[in-house]
Amino acid sequence: MKEAYIVSSVRTPGCRRGKGALAQTRPEDLMVQALDAVVERAPGVEKKDVEDLMIGCAFPEAEQGLNIGRVAAQMAKFPDTTCGATVNRFCSSGLEGIALQTMRIKAGWCDVAIGGGVESMSIVPMGGNMPRPHPEWSQENPDVYVSMGITAENVANRYKITREMQDEFAYHSQMKASNAKAKKLYKEIVPTKAVKFVEKDGIWNKETFIQDFDDGIRETTTVEGLAKLRAVFAANGSVTAGNSSQTTDGAAASMIMSGEAVEKFGIKPIAKIIGYTVAGVRADEMGVGPAYAVPKLLKMMDMKVEDIHLWELNEAFASQCIYAMQQLGLYDKRELWESTSDKRIINVNGGAIALGHPLGCTGAKLCAQIITQMQERGAKYAVESMCIGGGMGAAAMFELCE
Ligand SMILES: CC(C)(COP(=O)(O)OP(=O)(O)OC[C@H]1O[C@@H](n2cnc3c(N)ncnc32)[C@H](O)[C@@H]1OP(=O)(O)O)[C@@H](O)C(=O)NCCC(=O)NCCS
Repeated sequence: MKEAYIVSSVRTPGCRRGKGALAQTRPEDLMVQALDAVVERAPGVEKKDVEDLMIGCAFPEAEQGLNIGRVAAQMAKFPDTTCGATVNRFCSSGLEGIALQTMRIKAGWCDVAIGGGVESMSIVPMGGNMPRPHPEWSQENPDVYVSMGITAENVANRYKITREMQDEFAYHSQMKASNAKAKKLYKEIVPTKAVKFVEKDGIWNKETFIQDFDDGIRETTTVEGLAKLRAVFAANGSVTAGNSSQTTDGAAASMIMSGEAVEKFGIKPIAKIIGYTVAGVRADEMGVGPAYAVPKLLKMMDMKVEDIHLWELNEAFASQCIYAMQQLGLYDKRELWESTSDKRIINVNGGAIALGHPLGCTGAKLCAQIITQMQERGAKYAVESMCIGGGMGAAAMFELCE
């Protein structure tokens, strides 16, 4: 097998659905900007050198339909010879795009490729514009179509993840993100041209502006404030707007190359993906996915939890992320994730509770974040993992290049 190297990895900011800075910017325009930047940050490489794009999208329809992978390549002025595909594994779609390109390069079927993800949750709602579950089958199998919030309640109830634990975890996510935003630590962010429609004298005008920060971070969050929020998915539940991931718009991309291409372009590789796997679990508690995917990945790689120097565990909901951390033996080691700890290695700059979870983009967004932090910290081995609607978990292992 050949080696496959990540040579650049970027993301747009993540911005709040409906109320945020990217709400009126079309997903193709977000993806194009991530693609432009990922090529710009790979010195010596031109668009014509890229053979293929695989772009994750969880609801690939309407503005982000029609094979967004190919459409975005064409809009970004890659030549006709650069191909494009859309990849869907819901919340891990962006990581799946990167992993598929990695596998193709390792197999020797391709030399230069881009994997990424995009989701405008403002423009295409979660669930899609016209969900059509199979009528008879869905009656017999309602759990498969259950809301993600209910699955988070199920995890909280079945595994005794209390409201207090969820709110405390959410508070730390917000504080880590607030710190990172203030110190400008998100070096992977591409300042992104956004649009908004403004009415003047009865005429709507399209205005543009640059957005260069994640606008869902709430610096003023307190544990007491979080405790006051109502449960949103179940009457006596514990999952709230404060301890759930935010619904978000964004795009992200990574360029992957073979060893031969790295040499040809004289480019310094950043990291390699050395392992990737998925694990299936019950749909009505899909959030436990990482608790199965990560051990499967570690076993495959013949490594232990202690061998990993950096983690990005997607915070779809505090309940499921805490459960996964408990199962990995990481939750009780509070110094590894608390915002006040210098020893933290888990979601070091906050997670989706503060930064948002733009579904099909998230896997590629977390990749850009983990790549930045691996470089900053000299972290040799890193793991990215997330739960996936329908009942799955995905996990990938990265190794920093010397
Ligand atoms: C939970 C959910 C329904 C909340 O949606 P929302 O009401 O639009 O959420 P918002 O972020 O706008 O927060 C609503 C209110 O809660 C309060 N709130 C949210 N976070 C808070 C915090 N950290 N501290 C204090 N108050 C907070 C605020 O009053 C906020 O209103 P404001 O924005 O006007 O200040 C939505 O985020 C969601 O569905 N998340 C999960 C998405 C999902 O399932 N993804 C897939 C996972 S597999």
